[in-house]
Amino acid sequence: MNTPTPPAGINIVPFVSVDHMMKLVNHIGVETFLRELAVYIEDDFRRWELFDKTPRVASHSKDGVIELMPTSDGETYGFKYVNGHPKNTKEGLQTVTAFGVLSDVYTGYPALLTEMTILTALRTAATSAVAAKYLAPEEADTMAIIGNGAQSEFQAMAFKAILGIKKLRLYDIDQSATEKCAFNLSGKSFDITKCTTSQDAMEGAQIVTTVTADKQYATILTDNMVGAGIHINAIGGDCPGKTELHKDILLRSDIFVEYPPQTRIEGEIQQLNDDHPVKELWQVITGQIDGRTAATQTTLFDSVGFATEDFSALRYVKDKLVETEFYEELDMLADPDEPRDLFGMLLRAESA
Ligand SMILES: NC(=O)c1ccc[n+]([C@@H]2O[C@H](COP(=O)([O-])OP(=O)(O)OC[C@H]3O[C@@H](n4cnc5c(N)ncnc54)[C@H](O)[C@@H]3O)[C@@H](O)[C@H]2O)c1
Repeated sequence: MNTPTPPAGINIVPFVSVDHMMKLVNHIGVETFLRELAVYIEDDFRRWELFDKTPRVASHSKDGVIELMPTSDGETYGFKYVNGHPKNTKEGLQTVTAFGVLSDVYTGYPALLTEMTILTALRTAATSAVAAKYLAPEEADTMAIIGNGAQSEFQAMAFKAILGIKKLRLYDIDQSATEKCAFNLSGKSFDITKCTTSQDAMEGAQIVTTVTADKQYATILTDNMVGAGIHINAIGGDCPGKTELHKDILLRSDIFVEYPPQTRIEGEIQQLNDDHPVKELWQVITGQIDGRTAATQTTLFDSVGFATEDFSALRYVKDKLVETEFYEELDMLADPDEPRDLFGMLLRAESA
């Protein structure tokens, strides 16, 4: 493939549409993409201390939430716009959509604008698999996936690509979602069992991913369903008043989180006291604290999704664009010949 001509000027910002994102992912291959993205995510968790960090800025309504997720490593700034509307699928719309921007801190100029709906599914799955690498039982080969919606196949593919998970046990309250998930993953070398209850899905699984969407304190897993030694990858509890696990599971699990100030607001641990001990994933990755230490330990990754993971995904896509032509050039920034003559540029455009 030819190396694309670099953007013509500072006013031009590369834009990755949904169509181009799909071409990029398929060109690289989903599993390679997930593996390479996981390396970027892990690298940024290793650099955790130098990032600007803040709980995401959330605007809640009765139907959902719209959030902004900013961070910077001092040289590059990134943010993601993302929504979460569990009622949307009933109207033919997605629960989660997103887009994001990467900028140069020195000039403040944007350097990339991209769709992030597909990219969020990939980064969430890659992050889950990175966490599971440190937390799941050794030689785990079976994962239950409860909630078989938009994120589910991405989770399965990441756990296969990064942990070698081969057997899946799928369950959703809507059987058509399970059929869709099983169909999409057929031909991907999984041994798939479609289950009729979440209890059934847990049979023989060493890892369970809960990835449901419901705007309430739901109980997807009760305490009796979680045997000793299980790793729980809890994805769907990511908003105030929106959780998936019974509190008793939390009380007997070792809980690992991304950024405690955000997870205490949004994660499963919103059900616990503010001082309940949690461990930070970046400290596990850097070796400062242990991940899993015993076969009987119940580990919980209380995932809510943090800005650095999107920053890593934006960084990865930007690097990959250099090798491909999967973007277009947006005339996004006003660029008058004399920087202070913005109005003059407007006047000249009128007479041109
Ligand atoms: N932690 C993160 O970083 C992160 C990132 C993206 C999405 N999410 C969250 O993940 C969840 C899933 O997202 P999605 O895009 O796949 O949503 P989706 O609406 O496409 O799918 C959700 C599925 O959950 C099923 N479901 C609802 N209640 C259930 C129950 N009690 N038992 C079994 N299945 C049930 C629905 O039928 C649906 O098929 C959402 O809550 C979203 O907010 C988290």
